[in-house]
Amino acid sequence: MTEQTQRTGFTPRVFSGIQPSGGLTLGNYLGAIKRFVDMQDRGLNGQPVETVYCMVDLHAITAKLHDPETLRRNTRELCAGFIAAGVDPEKSVLINQSQVPEHAQLAWIFNCVARMGWMQRMTQWKDKAGKNSENASLGLFAYPALMAADILIYHATHVPVGEDQKQHIELTRDIAAKFNHDYGVDFFPITEPVIEGAATRVMSLRDGTKKMSKSDPSDASRINMTDDADAIAKKIRKAKTDPEPLPETLDGLKDRPDARNLVNIFAGLSDISAEDAIAQVAGQQFGQFKPMLADLAVAKLAPISEEMARLMQDTAEIDAILNRGASRAREITAPVLKRTYDIVGMVG
Ligand code: TYM
Repeated sequence: MTEQTQRTGFTPRVFSGIQPSGGLTLGNYLGAIKRFVDMQDRGLNGQPVETVYCMVDLHAITAKLHDPETLRRNTRELCAGFIAAGVDPEKSVLINQSQVPEHAQLAWIFNCVARMGWMQRMTQWKDKAGKNSENASLGLFAYPALMAADILIYHATHVPVGEDQKQHIELTRDIAAKFNHDYGVDFFPITEPVIEGAATRVMSLRDGTKKMSKSDPSDASRINMTDDADAIAKKIRKAKTDPEPLPETLDGLKDRPDARNLVNIFAGLSDISAEDAIAQVAGQQFGQFKPMLADLAVAKLAPISEEMARLMQDTAEIDAILNRGASRAREITAPVLKRTYDIVGMVG
């Protein structure tokens, strides 16, 4: 915890979100959901902590024209994925972003705090808008301000994410600090990103220098949470590697990104550090290591995808869970928004 969060004495609270943009990957699981479950069950630094997890449907419409029915399905499927992987809606507050309107309301205030220059520097904006930024939506540009609002409407102090979200959390800190400074208050916490574990950046199975992503055109590059046992085993068997056996230490993987990625995946799935993982598999050839990794991945992932499919048969129950989550969330978010409006000078 930083000095700042300690000094201002904010009660620790964890928040994180995932876009319902279709198809959870092993990257989402190891980099995010599995760690959400750990924090829910094991707390933060050994202390129990309140956890809030969110499907960010308002973010999912920033990129391209979407099909409304598909978005609805993806949101419910993501909710099923959270629950199947171990997020317990009784222990964590589990919500869909648009059902808690204070996220979008606070985002407007933050649009007026954040500076254009800050947004222009976001690598995700540059990657997604590309050369065609004139044609990108205003929502895509303002995306990080909504993300800051997601976090700060809960006064969340800790945000578990994969490495690719680090810059957005830094921006969240800048927005909180500028708001506090501009209005002379100590109202929003300076949130800490929690980027921990061996698998905070799971890479493509076809190219160990590229992030594993649901938007990669090659399905062989990723493991989807809905892949069956055969597909998982086949993708790991075909994963790009090199002819060398696995080295004794992580140092020996420095220039072997594909091998390093598989070791990280092994560590993430086994819940051990990358150092312990390499110690366990040192000297193995890929012909031995890959089938073992495939068995492990199937053992961990197949029950989750089966449970997701089962939960998706009762979407009324999923909707009921999300409605309950939204009511619980609003007990936190409504007073924070009210106080923000007071600080900013809104009448009412
Ligand atoms: P999204 O939906 O792209 O990804 C969700 C989470 O999965 C992690 N992740 C990965 N981790 C390791 N290796 C990978 N290959 C990999 N791919 C994805 C991401 O780092 C993320 O933690 N902007 C966010 C969603 C968001 C959010 C928030 C997150 C909106 N509001 C507030 C935290 C707090 C996003 O697009 O994540």
